[in-house]
Amino acid sequence: MSLEEIVTTVKTLWRFDYEPHVKALRDLYEVAKREQWNAATDIPWELESDPAAVGTLFPRDQDPLNELDFIQNLPAQTRVELNKRRSAWLLSQFLHGEQGAMMCASQLVEAVPDMDGKLYAATQVIDEARHVEVFARYITRLDKIYPIMPNLKTVLNAVLEADLWQMKCVGMQVIAEGLAMGSFKMMREATGDEVLRRVVELTSQDEARHVSYGLIYMREELARMDEASRNRIEDFAWTAVDLLAGRRNAAGNVPPLFHMMGELGLDTGALLKEVQEKFGDPRRFADRPNPVRDYVIPNLQRINVITERTAPNYRALGLAA
Ligand SMILES: [Fe+2]
Ligand SMILES: [Fe+2]
Repeated sequence: MSLEEIVTTVKTLWRFDYEPHVKALRDLYEVAKREQWNAATDIPWELESDPAAVGTLFPRDQDPLNELDFIQNLPAQTRVELNKRRSAWLLSQFLHGEQGAMMCASQLVEAVPDMDGKLYAATQVIDEARHVEVFARYITRLDKIYPIMPNLKTVLNAVLEADLWQMKCVGMQVIAEGLAMGSFKMMREATGDEVLRRVVELTSQDEARHVSYGLIYMREELARMDEASRNRIEDFAWTAVDLLAGRRNAAGNVPPLFHMMGELGLDTGALLKEVQEKFGDPRRFADRPNPVRDYVIPNLQRINVITERTAPNYRALGLAA
């Protein structure tokens, strides 16, 4: 058993008039009810995945690892095994994110002031429960569930501990959900594994709704807030993006990969040298799909969370024009 406790202070709001008054959220609630699916029966779990394709997450020509001679020269069987473990590691991060989203959605049920917002968030709780179920099950087809990375945990805890519900909404619904939706869409295009394709297809549909909730709600809500609160939200958003997509995050992802390779008996000294030579310059990957740049940033701009004050931070990371 592995439990960890954090203390959160969610302000719980009762709402005693039940008439719909945020129509777009009520409409989204209707869509959410219609689009429910069952992780146990709507995924073709019985399919045998092609061992060479199982767990593939990236298009072959866009996976940076494939640019390394070290990787190209590995025996085919070792490459398949490494790919499975690496995919299990990455999907484990999404799995932990799904649990965070489930708990955040349950906080939103309590904390948002509108009945339409509460009803919709209640559907998201079951959506995220389904995502937890589906990813935990898929990952164990590949390998095992890996621990959460520190930066991701910092972001999720900050969202759960935030005192303003609007902060939870921007941090989870716009940033984390946008990252998940963009990543799942990319995986849907790239994977050669039919089981995973179905998993990310259905999941990304749900995540698209979760992002819509954040955008619909926050566009109006942020405009109503006082400047000091807005500044806090803008800073919160930048910190989350930096933690999830900044350089320290990319660097932090290397040690688990090397550890995995060590477990497979590979000499990681030679690999490290090649990685440093070839990947030293982050601009090398500037033209690759990037879910934060392609999905999260445009949405933050839509709700005016990237302002003149904070835009230089994003520009310095190459994430905004
Ligand atoms: Fe989710
Ligand atoms: Fe979600």
